[in-house]
Amino acid sequence: MQINRRQWQRQALALALLPWLHSPVQPQDVSRRWKTQPFALGVASGSPRADGVVLWTRLLIDEGDRQSNTSEPVLVRWELFADEALRQPVRQGEVTTDASRGHSVHVPLQGLEPGREYWYRFNCGDATSRVGRTRTAPAVDAPVQRLRLALASCQHYEQGQYIAHRDMAEQSLDLVLFVGDYIYESSNARYAIRQHNGPEPMTLAAYRSRYEQYKSDPWLQASHAAHPWVLMWDDHEVVNDYANDRDNRYSPPEVFLARRAAAYQAYFEHQPLWLGPDPGSHQRASMRLHDRLSWGTLADLWTLDCRQYRDYQACPDPLKGGARVVTHCPELDQPERSILGQSQERWLTEGLRDSRSRWRLVAQSTQISPTSIATPLGRTTFNDAWDGYPQARRRLLETFADLPERNVVTLGGDVHMNVAAKLRASPNDESSPVIASEFVTTSVTSRGLSENILGMVRSSNPDLVHARSDERGYTLIDVQPEVLRTEFRTTAHPAGSQDKLSVQAAYQVLMGRPGPIPA
Ligand SMILES: [Fe+2]
Repeated sequence: MQINRRQWQRQALALALLPWLHSPVQPQDVSRRWKTQPFALGVASGSPRADGVVLWTRLLIDEGDRQSNTSEPVLVRWELFADEALRQPVRQGEVTTDASRGHSVHVPLQGLEPGREYWYRFNCGDATSRVGRTRTAPAVDAPVQRLRLALASCQHYEQGQYIAHRDMAEQSLDLVLFVGDYIYESSNARYAIRQHNGPEPMTLAAYRSRYEQYKSDPWLQASHAAHPWVLMWDDHEVVNDYANDRDNRYSPPEVFLARRAAAYQAYFEHQPLWLGPDPGSHQRASMRLHDRLSWGTLADLWTLDCRQYRDYQACPDPLKGGARVVTHCPELDQPERSILGQSQERWLTEGLRDSRSRWRLVAQSTQISPTSIATPLGRTTFNDAWDGYPQARRRLLETFADLPERNVVTLGGDVHMNVAAKLRASPNDESSPVIASEFVTTSVTSRGLSENILGMVRSSNPDLVHARSDERGYTLIDVQPEVLRTEFRTTAHPAGSQDKLSVQAAYQVLMGRPGPIPA
């Protein structure tokens, strides 16, 4: 496993560096004078390793600053410091970027010291970016006593203000774990308190424009500048409810894959990631996002991709497509159906068995615990989350059950509610032992389920210890060797710019005793 991981990291670095190793043209003069600040989208860092981290920015070139030759490469300098006052330079370098990558900049840094903070900024001509703070992961064998992270997801721009990010930026955190729905492709005028900048994106240019709008938010920028992020995607980074090569309109796969390629490219261009779309893949529509991080001996963290490789939703609406609530759907129980795809599932299973860390944290984009509702006509199941892939869930829970330690905590998002749940080998069966714990965070802004429906979800699913969909925010997670504590930090919906977050509820999991209990 160690060899595989090292090989994977080396390959990731080689691919991430590729765009700069073959720059055919001399970049523009370093004395370029800007009329408009090109670093208007802020800075970010992410995917921390024990010896490195990725730095990110993207130049936003205003009309008045465009050169006659718009395909010309642009030179960007980066600087890394050991201190917040920027008096102790550690490293600096130059990269070129150009229009083919939306003038995005990724600096994959290796050879840094483990478990320490760094500060960074970018320069281009006479423009300087804001300063970002980042940190590397502790050495793999370091006896770390603490990991503090913010779990967040679902930030529909139209449906609220990003006060959750303002709050995260002020916290002392090791990282932000964002589990999906960073942008939304669609609009709903009924629930909008601010507007998207255009219609549903279908092209690379339109997805870039959507990210520009989201990334212009000052609180989102502050959250990225304050902490390294670890990112996963869900469906809305491309389109609602997509599964593998199928969208929610049954577009021909070729047509949808071209859109998915545009969406994945735009995603890479706007996030601090080691790897972009796979250049060898058809239409560049594949991109490896799933990953594994270690936080010393305290925790291993898996970040999963629940969209790209999944089987289609079971018993879909033949006219509308997408996800829906189903009853009496025998297809659900087909044994080979997978939400992760065979190869990611195998990789996760092997990694979980191989892990020797104190906690095993499994982050995925949606909810593993059940939310189906008992009705007189049978149990109704939402076919998009793990409920829609019950055999894949059974395999995952069996893997948890077979581990020698009871230290698995799963983390999720997508459903716009705060959930603390017991994970049993056989869901909702009180005679089945609790083998792991689940926390799902509410959305940063996106509207939640009605209390009416949620009441039925609660009464039909005794494994749910806590389920509330009425508030917006994020979840603070504090991992220590003997206890993992969580705090749901929320405000009423919709989140307004003057609102403040408070603690909706706090739970903890004790080492070796799975199941969330009030803290
Ligand atoms: Fe969402």
